[in-house]
Amino acid sequence: MTETDFQDLTDEALRRWGTAHTPRLQELLTGLVRHLHDYAREVNLTEDEWMAAIQWLTRTGQISDDKREEFILASDVLGLSMLVVQLNHDFDPAATPATVLGPFHIDGSPAAPYGFDMSEGIDGVPLFVTGTVTDIAGRALPGAVLDVWQADSDGLYEAQISEAEEARLRAKYETREDGTYCLRSVVPLGYSIPMDGPVGSLITQTDISHYRPAHIHFLIDEPGYRRLITHIFEDGTRYLDNDVVFGTRKELITQFVHHAHGVAPDGTDFDSPYVTAEFNFVLQPE
Ligand code: BEZ
Ligand code: FE
Repeated sequence: MTETDFQDLTDEALRRWGTAHTPRLQELLTGLVRHLHDYAREVNLTEDEWMAAIQWLTRTGQISDDKREEFILASDVLGLSMLVVQLNHDFDPAATPATVLGPFHIDGSPAAPYGFDMSEGIDGVPLFVTGTVTDIAGRALPGAVLDVWQADSDGLYEAQISEAEEARLRAKYETREDGTYCLRSVVPLGYSIPMDGPVGSLITQTDISHYRPAHIHFLIDEPGYRRLITHIFEDGTRYLDNDVVFGTRKELITQFVHHAHGVAPDGTDFDSPYVTAEFNFVLQPE
């Protein structure tokens, strides 16, 4: 084939996929064909490399199920998930920034009262997170639901633990009349993303750190406001500057204050150490 033949093949593929039945689908599919063809040309893709890539995609599909989302993980470590978040959330600077959902959110977490301990029965230093949910003018949003999830001290989410029968380290908290919320959990630790699948096997062929800094996930979906998917991160924790999924934002970093003993925000009198953190969520209007 000559260089001209290559170009003709691309043109013909673009013509075919340009027959998609909506303008948006045409744009998405012809853009994909154009970039895939350009990529193959740019790197001079060999047949062995093409086959290795196909087998990698096959394994990524085969290892995924209703609890494991290896394609999301692949998108996360390639920086694509965070890029899509940035493209779609040009929030007011006063609003809390969004970050990646990650592969471990579970729908339908139980409703939890103010101060509920979502870590019951799980080892770790008690942590209380308090704060408010407001709009960008500072008005309190009563009844806003904070869907919260985090990993345990082994870096494992409920979705990764097959024997988990009850909700584990996840719950839905509602704000009170004055927009305040309070959750009780355990101090999160930084953890490695799952490395036993095709994403891990690619990462081990690079110098990329496969860790995420300690964080807690939040999803707030309040009518009239843009859905906020975000995390909070502990100030000073490891991996903040090289999060494997590019998910950190300086606005999401908060102090975790260590107390030797004292009265916690839910009124519990501790004679042993506990930690408090404060984070005020600000929602972007629709
Ligand atoms: C998480 O924080 O749960 C997560 C996000 C992206 C990839 C792996 C884990
Ligand atoms: Fe996480």
